[in-house]
Amino acid sequence: MAIVLITGTSSGIGRLTAETLAREGHTVYATMRDRNSRNRDAADGILRLAKEQGLAIRVLDMDVKDESAIQGAVGEILRETSRIDIVVNNAGLMSIGLAEGFTEAQAAHQMDVNFLGPVRVCRAVLPHLRAQRAGLLIHVTSIVGRLLFPGCAFYCASKFAHEAYAEVLHYELKGTGVESVIVEPGPYPSRLLPNSPAPEDVERLAGYGDLAALRDRFVRHFSDFFSSPSAPDTREVADGILRLVQLPPGTRHFTVCRRGFRRKRIKPAYCPAPGGSTPRTWARIHDSFCSY
Ligand SMILES: NC(=O)c1ccc[n+]([C@@H]2O[C@H](COP(=O)([O-])OP(=O)(O)OC[C@H]3O[C@@H](n4cnc5c(N)ncnc54)[C@H](OP(=O)(O)O)[C@@H]3O)[C@@H](O)[C@H]2O)c1
Repeated sequence: MAIVLITGTSSGIGRLTAETLAREGHTVYATMRDRNSRNRDAADGILRLAKEQGLAIRVLDMDVKDESAIQGAVGEILRETSRIDIVVNNAGLMSIGLAEGFTEAQAAHQMDVNFLGPVRVCRAVLPHLRAQRAGLLIHVTSIVGRLLFPGCAFYCASKFAHEAYAEVLHYELKGTGVESVIVEPGPYPSRLLPNSPAPEDVERLAGYGDLAALRDRFVRHFSDFFSSPSAPDTREVADGILRLVQLPPGTRHFTVCRRGFRRKRIKPAYCPAPGGSTPRTWARIHDSFCSY
C-alpha cells in the first residue's frame, strides 16, 4: 500500500481524493493550510471520519506558498514512513473576471499557489522519489490548462504553466522510476467557485461596458449548473485519480501526438468531464463562450 501526500485537502477534490485513496488501504497524508485555525473544522472532520472508518489518514499543515512548511511536512512523513510513493498536487484557486481588473499582486498570488506551489512540492519530494527509484506525481491541472476562456486569464495562465512543468517532468524523469501525470478535470462542484478571487481594480472595468459583467455571468452559470439535478459528482475526479494510482507503474503513459505544425503535446493521463463529455465537447463550449 502506498504512502500518499495530497495538497489542499480542506475541501473539494483534495478531500474526496484523501478519503478515496485511504478507503483502498493507502496511508494518506492530507495536507492543508491553517490546519489549527481557519481549517480546524476541516481537519477535525477528516480525522473523525478516519477514526470512524478505520482509515489511515494523517493531517499535516502545509501552505503551498511556504517552502519551509512544505519541507517540514515532507520531513515529518519521511521520519514516520521512510518513503513517499504518490504526491497529488491538488491545491489551487481560481480568479474569475476580466484580466485588466486584476492587480499585479493578484496575478502573482494566482501563479504562486497554482504554479509555484506544485514546483515547491516537487522540489521537496523529488530527491526522495528518485532515490527510491519509484514514485508517482499526479498534477491536478484543468481543462483550462489546454483551452483558454475569457474571464480566466490568470487561472488559465497558472494551469498552462502547471501543465508545461508537469509535462517536462514527464520527459525529464524518464529512466528514474518516477512518473509525472496530468489530471485535467472539467467543471465540478467544490469551494473553487465560491472562493474565487474577483478583480480588485474595478475602476478599470468601467470601459468594458456589458462585458464587465462577465464574472457575474460566469459565476451564475456555474452556480446554477452545480445546484441543478444534472450537477456532476465531484467523486468522479477522485475515482479517476484512484484508477490512475491502481495502474501498474510504467503504464500510465501519455500518448505523444503531433497535430499539424503544433508542438508535440502529451495527452493527460485522465480527463474527467461531467456526463462523459469529451475534450471535443469542451472545444465547442469554449467556442460558444468566446463568441459573446
Ligand atoms: N472543481 C472544478 O471544477 C475543477 C476543475 C478543474 C480543476 N480543478 C482544480 O482542482 C483542484 C482542487 O480544487 P477544488 O475544485 O477541489 O476546489 P476547492 O474545494 O476550493 O479546493 C481547493 C483546495 O486548495 C486549497 N488551497 C488554496 N490555496 C492554498 C495554499 N496556498 N496552500 C495550500 N492549500 C491551498 C484550499 O484550501 P483553503 O480551504 O485553505 O482555501 C482547498 O483545500 C484545484 O487545483 C483546481 O484548480 C477544479
